[in-house]
Amino acid sequence: MSNEAIAKGEAALLRQARDKFVATFGREPVAAASAPGRVNLIGEHVDYCEGFVLPVALPFLTVVVGAYNGTDDCSVVSVLASGEELRASFPSPLKTTLEPGSPPWANYVKGVVALFPGDVKGFDAVVVSDVPIGGGVSSSAALEVATFTFLEELTGTRVEPVKKAQLCQKAEHEFPGMPCGIMDQYIVTMAKKGHALLIDCRSLEATHIPLEAEGTVLLVVNSNVKHQLTGSEYPQRRAQCLAAAEALGIPSLRTAKTDDINKLQQLNCDELVLKRAKHVIEEISRTEEAAKKLPLNDLDRVGELFYESHVSLSNLMEVSCPELDRLVDILRSARGVYGARMTGGGFGGCVVALVEEETVEVVKKKILEEYSGNPTFFVCQPSDGARSIKLK
Ligand code: GLA
Repeated sequence: MSNEAIAKGEAALLRQARDKFVATFGREPVAAASAPGRVNLIGEHVDYCEGFVLPVALPFLTVVVGAYNGTDDCSVVSVLASGEELRASFPSPLKTTLEPGSPPWANYVKGVVALFPGDVKGFDAVVVSDVPIGGGVSSSAALEVATFTFLEELTGTRVEPVKKAQLCQKAEHEFPGMPCGIMDQYIVTMAKKGHALLIDCRSLEATHIPLEAEGTVLLVVNSNVKHQLTGSEYPQRRAQCLAAAEALGIPSLRTAKTDDINKLQQLNCDELVLKRAKHVIEEISRTEEAAKKLPLNDLDRVGELFYESHVSLSNLMEVSCPELDRLVDILRSARGVYGARMTGGGFGGCVVALVEEETVEVVKKKILEEYSGNPTFFVCQPSDGARSIKLK
């Protein structure tokens, strides 16, 4: 198996989805949409505290195609990268109020169908994707936003982008039951090629930041490990941050300052709550600084901020794992690497590194030699967000 993850591209995924739809349902699809995965450059575990985040969209995509079927039921076939096929069906929301259920993967689709603000009659759909699943690059948000955009195309009901991201986030809260922040659905909806997006998770306004440092690339290393802790750990982190804000008497940690750590100490705050608050306060200011330094090509400083972010996620937020820490250590000792950090929710998944283009191959070789797991790599090309696709 190659260690290089290569994006198939929208045209190939669309062809695959369309062929599968015709073979399964015996007619042509009439609506189609795609949505990408994402990598967060910095601003980790702060979106649910109304902080700043700086993600980019990836060229890896989820494509949904389909058509009404003239019944009261929705049928969805999902083809995984391995070729395995998953099937699910549930009633149209016009017939009954949808509830989360089994199979678990279908809750991402069902939740969006349930919350879509238009009349969704029974439909058949096929989903294909090359977004790595469980890699911390937002395969969930890609599926939600691709489904939503497909429904916009199918029903003709269009929804303003921020509202769309919020509805997809709500779907993830209410159906799979993951209390995520807004970052993933927002970037997947609003990304622009060649840019990162500085999202203010309080005002929900965003600024596109051009990524044009010549001779420098974003190398993503997938550890290909996923520790099964995420289910309970993520909601705990969110609750601890909320507890810190409540103790300070503020709506979220966004408005907290470094001094507030002393205040929390004086209030005899739980030690874990204190550590989480420190991470969030410092990570928000690191993210604001990185967004200023990136367009100035001050890559040394951006790299330092990446390392600081990782150490904080590992020691204060405690969402890293030995594999991610090891990858960052290897990258720290490699020539031509400005900085590296874990990206996404944590407990496995990917590391993102800012690397001189001419040293990328040497850096990969070093990782293959020194890391005992089975990593995959890709150089991240910041890509566009979700779109509907016109079928000919
Ligand atoms: C997951 C969540 C996001 C965000 C990140 C951590 O990806 O879906 O909302 O909280 O973790 O930054």
